[in-house]
Amino acid sequence: MTLAPHVGDALARFQRGEAGEGQTAKALARADLPAVDDDFRAIIHRFVREEGRHARILKGMLGALDRPPARRDWAVDGFRSVRRRSSLPFDVMWLATAEIVGLCTYHEVADALPPSWARSLRHVAADEALHLTFFLEFARRSFREQPGHRLALPGLCAGAQVVNLASNHRAFSALGVDRRRLIARSWRLARWAQRQLGLDVELAPKLPCGLT
Ligand SMILES: [Fe+2]
Ligand SMILES: [Fe+2]
Repeated sequence: MTLAPHVGDALARFQRGEAGEGQTAKALARADLPAVDDDFRAIIHRFVREEGRHARILKGMLGALDRPPARRDWAVDGFRSVRRRSSLPFDVMWLATAEIVGLCTYHEVADALPPSWARSLRHVAADEALHLTFFLEFARRSFREQPGHRLALPGLCAGAQVVNLASNHRAFSALGVDRRRLIARSWRLARWAQRQLGLDVELAPKLPCGLT
């Protein structure tokens, strides 16, 4: 498989991001909150498995490019470090942010990859859409009395998107990623997610922007 070297850099970054997603989720499963019950723990268990599968899919792509996984990455490691310092509602908002930016980015990048890789990446994006609705539902039930995280969500997404565009700009150029569409989609999704957090009824699993 031959792709521009910067594309490999971006795939390595995505792989590193996927590989570490399980830890915060496991910590969530131990949180003392009404929404944390056996059903919640079962979903978290599935979430951790799925993120592990995403990491393996991306690792397979790196292998085909003859590249090792990244041992460090300023964007992923910086994001993780900020997240670890956040209080619980914001930690969940960071998880939702990662799903929003991740799934919008996978959709855009998939359009520019070989068909079999594109299919895999779209499956990953479909999982991320489900993860997003799960975290939103969890936050809606758990932090109703704390509006700060809800107000912050679009801002967190905008900040993460800036880092995403800056760290992957060479890869996005090589792939011809439509940055305007990426920004517009993730912004609309962030605003949709913010509205869902304020609802009194259970979330509809259908995402906007044709992203399900
Ligand atoms: Fe993932
Ligand atoms: Fe995810």
